[in-house]
Amino acid sequence: MGAEKANSIRDLKEAARRRLPRIIFDYIEGGAEDETCIIRNRQGWESLEIVPRFLRDVSGVEQSVELFGRSYASPFGIAPMGMTAITHRDADLLLAQAAHEANIPFLLSGASNSAIEKIAKVAPSAWYQLYVPRDPAIRADLIRRVADAGLGTLVVSIDVPIYSKRERDIRNGWIRPYKPTLEARLEAIRHPGWVLDYLRRGIPYLENWQTYAPPGASPIEVANVYAKQSFAVQTWDILQEIREQWRGPLVLKGVLHPDDAARAVDAGADGIIISNHGGRQFDRAPTPVAMLPAVHAAVKGRIPVMVDSGITRGSDIVAAMCMGASFAFIGRAALYAVAAHGKPGVDRAIAILQQEILLALATMGCPRIGDVDPTYLRQSVKGAAA
Ligand SMILES: Cc1cc2nc3c(=O)[nH]c(=O)nc-3n(C[C@H](O)[C@H](O)[C@H](O)COP(=O)(O)O)c2cc1C
Repeated sequence: MGAEKANSIRDLKEAARRRLPRIIFDYIEGGAEDETCIIRNRQGWESLEIVPRFLRDVSGVEQSVELFGRSYASPFGIAPMGMTAITHRDADLLLAQAAHEANIPFLLSGASNSAIEKIAKVAPSAWYQLYVPRDPAIRADLIRRVADAGLGTLVVSIDVPIYSKRERDIRNGWIRPYKPTLEARLEAIRHPGWVLDYLRRGIPYLENWQTYAPPGASPIEVANVYAKQSFAVQTWDILQEIREQWRGPLVLKGVLHPDDAARAVDAGADGIIISNHGGRQFDRAPTPVAMLPAVHAAVKGRIPVMVDSGITRGSDIVAAMCMGASFAFIGRAALYAVAAHGKPGVDRAIAILQQEILLALATMGCPRIGDVDPTYLRQSVKGAAA
């Protein structure tokens, strides 16, 4: 089945499930410990009911938004995801290209397989996400490379002070030093498309890190250099250092507490992303829907408050914006798409969400995304506050 047959992000997810070995699918889909956070993320979005207003002219629906001085076609982008090449060898490039063509932002991960300079060539509109390395010289060099490559926005992920406990990966042997169980290997053989690609092209590099490893280092040796640098003891002082080195828009990703959001504004951040890392880091973390009202109140409109975690429908994005979010990001939704169908899959995922946003705006009687507000929301029984 081709990408064009997919009607929803769920269809793309099922197509990815078919193409990928279980061990790889589990790496994408899974979360920390009991994975309750992943379930609550979905429940949070689903709990938000939008009350339509009818008898309004919705013949021209507009979903473009302004962010950091530029106009994007839609109010969402693609969140940073590391090690995407294990799903599809050219995943970073294809995600970046699709996002660039659609005029939405693609965030290149701090654990990406493709190099900053390579992505900047195909998608100059991409942003870069930094996992703060221990060595100040390396972090300064990465920031310089991002600026030299012309990528305009730097995102610092603050929500990984330590590796998390993902039990699917532990069970499958998909943790360093990566010794997949016999069962996982045998299951992988049932996905020949993926296996042939892997055998043909070998283990992918973390390309950004090759330059910090000895010449000729293997992909595993480069990954070891990265692992040794992960993660610096992140403090507000380090953020200050980064703020001094980076002139463009600086975004903090992984903010959950309203006090941290207010402090981010004081520290000179230009935006924040409320995120629980898609439930991958801390199973007790609150959902973005639960935290958005308090964070929004703490920020007081001084900088854009963006959001991710659990978004699979265009109406989730519209509901987030009704709650005061300025922008949203999709993680797994895009990764399933590229894993299943390459670039046509990502094109399709973007088109599906865009159409769902259009449908939501037209049905709720609010033709401009910029005009949505909390009065469109009804707090449902399960639900979070508007
Ligand atoms: C496979 C995978 C890898 C990820 N890698 C990173 C990463 O390198 N940096 C980062 O800031 N977030 C990373 N994330 C988190 C995403 O940026 C995003 O916060 C999350 O996926 C949003 O939730 P969703 O997948 O439910 O949309 C990763 C998520 C996934 C699924």
